[in-house]
Amino acid sequence: MSPSNAPGPLLITGAAGFIGSCLVRQLIGETRDRIVSFDALTYAGNPQSLGQALDSDRHVLVRADIRDAEAVRSALTTHRPRAIVHLAAESHVDRSIHGPAEFISTNVTGTLVLLQEALAFWRELPDAERAAFRFHHVSTDEVFGSLGADDPAFCETTAYAPNSPYSASKAGSDFLVRAWHHTYGLPTLLTNCSNNYGPYQFPEKLIPLMIAHALEGRPLPVYGDGANVRDWLYVEDHARALRAVLERGKAGETYNVGGKAERRNLDVVQRLCEILDARRPAHAPHARLITFVKDRPGHDRRYAIDSSKIERELGWSPGESFESGLARTVDWYLDNPEWVRAVRSGDYQRWIERNYGAR
Ligand code: NAD
Ligand code: TYD
Repeated sequence: MSPSNAPGPLLITGAAGFIGSCLVRQLIGETRDRIVSFDALTYAGNPQSLGQALDSDRHVLVRADIRDAEAVRSALTTHRPRAIVHLAAESHVDRSIHGPAEFISTNVTGTLVLLQEALAFWRELPDAERAAFRFHHVSTDEVFGSLGADDPAFCETTAYAPNSPYSASKAGSDFLVRAWHHTYGLPTLLTNCSNNYGPYQFPEKLIPLMIAHALEGRPLPVYGDGANVRDWLYVEDHARALRAVLERGKAGETYNVGGKAERRNLDVVQRLCEILDARRPAHAPHARLITFVKDRPGHDRRYAIDSSKIERELGWSPGESFESGLARTVDWYLDNPEWVRAVRSGDYQRWIERNYGAR
């Protein structure tokens, strides 16, 4: 195939973050795709997470903000992507409680800017490219609100009921994507996934934070009674789900993606402690570090995802069990102290003091 009619690259926003970088590493490692990583490199974005992609001639990193319409336009007209996969966001619930404005700005206004620029670009494409183009928006199960212990899991038709500034901002962006499809015909795809875990996750989220604290002999801060439930999805499985939706999903549709691994937070932390006891027996038992702290305001009790639509229609299902995924994750953090050290400098210490100092 000559370069002039080769398929365009994928433009991935938020590519230097936890999930985006996993998707980029997987695509560079397993396909012939060309990738444009578009990322503002906030505290949560780290080029090192892109791994072998940084040395690939099929990859470029554009450091820019999704709220900057000119930068988005320039990336689209320069690289002419066949699809946009939109992951860039402020993503941490606790930070959204302390500073909601940045979440509305990036997650809602940023998505608006991206949609407008994508629409203008898409409208000018030749027929065949316009038909093939996709705008894939990556969202969360948190837009559906909180479940009781016996409620059925969230499905694609569950009503939205966001409870935190983070989930409200993601719900707002989801509604914009829906509207841009219905009003302007932009060929969108939307996925709502459950809590991800795995290598390269910023150590402000539950699992990497607990691993980092346990290795330093510091308290493991469990919010409230520790009985809140999350449905854990291994990040590599999520990246495969995104690829399945991008390649085979139907424009205008939404797909829920879950890990079939509902666990109480306290059980997750205890299991982490057991794995660390085996890896670092001199410091066992790590569970002595578990400390119950003041609950998160508005803390959602339970999330659970019904993934039957993506399983039935696109043939995707999670491959990693929670037990093996958690062990792999711990081992990655034990093997990569340099990555952890680099991302925990500067602003990170101030965040830990702000979120945990008063609990
Ligand atoms: P992350 O916080 O690790 O990474 C976010 C990335 O976006 C970073 O690289 C950051 O630099 C970039 N970014 C932030 N603001 C930007 C801006 N204005 N312009 C350009 N880039 C910007 O997040 P993640 O965990 O990888 O999540 C990715 C997406 O998946 C988010 O949209 C999030 O809402 C969604 N999601 C995450 C989870 C999860 O468990 N991590 C679950 C469900 C949905
Ligand atoms: P988190 O990783 O922040 O993801 P989310 O809030 O998007 O689900 O938190 C996962 C769960 O762990 C959530 O119920 C809050 C809880 N949690 C703690 O108990 N202690 C902590 O220090 C953190 C960061 C989270």
